[in-house]
Amino acid sequence: MRVVISIGGSVLAPDLDADRVAGHASAVERLVDEGCEVGAVVGGGGVARDYIGAARELGANEVQLDQIGIDVTRINARLLIAALSGLSAPSPAHDYEAAGEALRRGDVPVMGGVMPGQTTDAVAAALAEYVDADLLVYATSVDGVFSADPNGDGDAEQYDCLTGAELVDLITPMSRGAGASAPVDLLAAKLIERSEMRTVVLDGTDPGRIAPAVLRGDHSGTDVVPAGCDDAGPWDR
Ligand code: UTP
Repeated sequence: MRVVISIGGSVLAPDLDADRVAGHASAVERLVDEGCEVGAVVGGGGVARDYIGAARELGANEVQLDQIGIDVTRINARLLIAALSGLSAPSPAHDYEAAGEALRRGDVPVMGGVMPGQTTDAVAAALAEYVDADLLVYATSVDGVFSADPNGDGDAEQYDCLTGAELVDLITPMSRGAGASAPVDLLAAKLIERSEMRTVVLDGTDPGRIAPAVLRGDHSGTDVVPAGCDDAGPWDR
């Protein structure tokens, strides 16, 4: 199975904890050991937000802020590369061609951001489409897609399963307004819909949850299933 794993920065490196990064590298290693081809995309988390906040106070424009964010995602990508000790390409791929070449060589490509105006959610969706992945996994800080922000709304309900079109419809209103909190960004949702990419959104704070989700479809998050929710997907079950 070919899989792209998006590891949110707040999941990989909410603080600089080597053990946590090693845990995510172990999840990737386990999948490779099981015969999966794996690509990883890493977010910027709180460190990116801190840098962006400071640069905004200094008068940087939005593109400059995004470029700072991209640099932080690439530093986090280098952390994961360090933990993957030789299993990955030696530096973060800056475009999808380089990531695809690494995958063909048998390496694990690791990406951060690529261009202003989006987040690594969209990078992961585009990489999954580019390498024709069987599965895209978002390891985030919430366990799936909810009807509202589960951290701010006690009535928020979790969806077990959505189509790509339903995901876009849900994310669109969530993406409006400052402080909007969507589980994946709107561009990512649109790419998932267009490519009909089978996707799982799950709680990745424990990296041990990633391998069962990929290998057996075993998780408590949300499946995004283009062909309809009775599609068993790549798993024989
Ligand atoms: P993230 O992907 O971590 O953003 O990229 P996020 O989703 O806001 O963070 P989490 O998931 O909650 O931790 C960090 C920042 O880097 C810039 C954006 O400014 C983004 O907010 N970025 C990232 C880009 O401009 N382009 C990219 O391709 C990726």
